[in-house]
Amino acid sequence: MRPFEGRRILLGITGGIASYKSVTVARLLTQAGAEVDVVMTRAAQEFVGAITFEAVTGRRIYTDIFGAGNALDHIKLAREASIFVVAPATADFLARAAHGMADDLLTACLLANTSPVLLVPAMNDRMWANAQTKQNLRQLRNLGYKVLDPDEGPLAVGEGSGPGRMPEPEAIVAEIGRVLEPRTRLAGLKIVVTAGATREAIDPVRFISNHSTGKMGVALAQAAWRRGAEVTLVAGHIDVPSPHGVDAIHVETVSEMKDSIEEILPSTDVLIMAAAPADFRPSSPATRKIKKESQKSGPPKPIELAETEDILATTRSARKKGSIVIGFALETEDLLNNSAKKLEQKGLDLIVANSAVDEGTGFGGDTNRVTILSAGGAIEEIAMMKKTEVADLILDRVEALLNGR
Ligand code: CTP
Repeated sequence: MRPFEGRRILLGITGGIASYKSVTVARLLTQAGAEVDVVMTRAAQEFVGAITFEAVTGRRIYTDIFGAGNALDHIKLAREASIFVVAPATADFLARAAHGMADDLLTACLLANTSPVLLVPAMNDRMWANAQTKQNLRQLRNLGYKVLDPDEGPLAVGEGSGPGRMPEPEAIVAEIGRVLEPRTRLAGLKIVVTAGATREAIDPVRFISNHSTGKMGVALAQAAWRRGAEVTLVAGHIDVPSPHGVDAIHVETVSEMKDSIEEILPSTDVLIMAAAPADFRPSSPATRKIKKESQKSGPPKPIELAETEDILATTRSARKKGSIVIGFALETEDLLNNSAKKLEQKGLDLIVANSAVDEGTGFGGDTNRVTILSAGGAIEEIAMMKKTEVADLILDRVEALLNGR
């Protein structure tokens, strides 16, 4: 999985209770195709056994600087790593690292390292707030090390909650991915991705919606952030968590989605409309719940519908000059002709066409088979692949378009 495949990651574990979460970090990185070299401090081994990390990474675990045959481990490990991560990084480790000490294998590796460093501090909130810890962190940041600030939330049992909690493994893996990603054309650009289904009220408890789960849009937002973009996700109802690092705006209706888009479009470099906004809404939603009783004097009353606004078409004049706009088309028949019409009518640079009826494509699943049509008339058929891979492929096309401008 991009950008982890074949990359060597040095994962340092220091002695904090959050080290149990680092097992998942090591596992996720290994599953994504990375080779993870785990270096544990002596204190870390009091919390989690080295054998656990060996089982999830399938690799030897490094703990000792002085064992026979270990003399050059710190040099070799540091030289081979594409990134040096310490999670959790305790207050003690931060202090030793800030002062350039090399009194165990992990700190010796850090001194020998020339790759990017990501520190993930985790500790009690009082230790986090301590002036010495703050000073050490300032020093480490000045050295060019990236620090992922702790979350607020429950700490060790009985110790309340406060800033100090280690971020969840998925967030740490996402941050590692952003560091590993080569500088791309999207770095620093403002990208807006829409995802999921809108809901149009029939009455206060019922609505009209569709089967969109938001997976494709979320995959695009995540991949764009990983490539260095500043990403806003405008999400209707989505069945997957909003990705780490991305600014999320949650909306309910087409009208709310349109208002959000209209507001941010003038400063947006790339808009990707992966959402499935409803095309129709009840023309006058009931203010109270429609009771069964009220429908009993004859056949149930039909719900009168009105058309919603087409977001892409109606916000066209708000687009930033030179920006790229991409739409999706979901069709049950005549895929290419219908998609080409939408490309033209909505003034798009690309449209990603997918079938709602073919096996392995469309709503809900983890895979998609798409055809990308461009304003220049090119048609590119893409083989079935994971939605995360489709997302990267679409972003490659966006980068090519930007390079051509
Ligand atoms: N779209 C939009 N506003 C709407 C409906 C759709 O901006 N009210 C966007 C979608 O996000 C997608 C593109 O338009 O990027 C095409 O959506 P699709 O549902 O395939 O097409 P429609 O224009 O709604 O036409 P139809 O439903 O008749 O196929």
